[in-house]
Amino acid sequence: MSLLPVVVGTEPGIKLEIAGYWLASGILGVSAASISRVYHSGADVVVTKSIGRHPRRGHPGPILAESHNGLLNAVGLTNPGIEEFSRELSSINLSEIPVVISIFDEKVEGMAELAIQACDLNPRALELNLSCPHAEISQIAHSPELTHEFVKGVTDVVDCPVFVKITPNASNIIGVGLAAQRAGADAVVAVNTLRAMKIDILQRRPVLGNAVGGLSGAPLFPVAVRCIYDLHSALDIPIIGVGGVSTWKDAVEMHLAGASAIQIGTSVMEGLEVFREIKTGVAEYLAREEFQSTSEIVGLAGGKR
Ligand SMILES: Cc1cc2nc3c(=O)[nH]c(=O)nc-3n(C[C@H](O)[C@H](O)[C@H](O)COP(=O)(O)O)c2cc1C
Repeated sequence: MSLLPVVVGTEPGIKLEIAGYWLASGILGVSAASISRVYHSGADVVVTKSIGRHPRRGHPGPILAESHNGLLNAVGLTNPGIEEFSRELSSINLSEIPVVISIFDEKVEGMAELAIQACDLNPRALELNLSCPHAEISQIAHSPELTHEFVKGVTDVVDCPVFVKITPNASNIIGVGLAAQRAGADAVVAVNTLRAMKIDILQRRPVLGNAVGGLSGAPLFPVAVRCIYDLHSALDIPIIGVGGVSTWKDAVEMHLAGASAIQIGTSVMEGLEVFREIKTGVAEYLAREEFQSTSEIVGLAGGKR
């Protein structure tokens, strides 16, 4: 028996199980070749780069900078648009490779239209990016009201599961999570990057072309754990944890805070073996501590008992 369950299909009658270790949005998930490579390297699910209705160039460079063992990015939602992306995705066998399509739009009607198009491609779920900290959509997941409007706009028009990606920059992340739940979300994804910047001390100006970017990697980890812990105390829907996970110990800690599944982004840039290393380490931990499955440790450290 495997100690680590994976996500099962979404055919009618089969319950969607949210578990395992997934590729986070924005890292390698844009070409058919990279999606397939990540899956065959051990990711249970691949979340695509966030896709919009139209092609988008993104912010001027530099778009990446390192700071304090973390990564700052201001990519600016560069993507080929849903039509071109659907051509790319058509070469992947989606019944073999579980793909979640991440989408964004700054208007509710645009998001709903895009969600219908994306759902027609038969992904396991949609992930609504309401929270990129360096683009027009950055404010949506700061507001429970706006979050509710966007999520409801989508859940009203599609049948596939809907995940909602929220931001650690929100002052009331529990309110935002509850709004997503009320609007019919199947899970929340916590968290996107933290608004941050770096300044070049010789040029005396911001390093990133967009000045402000999003912080990911190790320094984000304790912030993500706090957000997940808070959300788990209030929400009934599952939480998909993301932010700074690079080892099996991080993964166990995030499960204990309340994450049912975990996404990995920045540390994938160090090598794709991270998925298998985390799975092996978590499985050994579970066996040593006499648990049968990760589901038994989800939220064990949390306030909801
Ligand atoms: C270069 C880069 C691009 C990203 N692009 C997206 C994106 O398109 N959509 C999205 O929802 N999140 C995006 N993210 C955020 C990640 O999915 C993730 O939430 C964040 O990086 C925290 O996880 P990590 O520390 O494991 O990377 C991006 C992150 C990075 C580093």
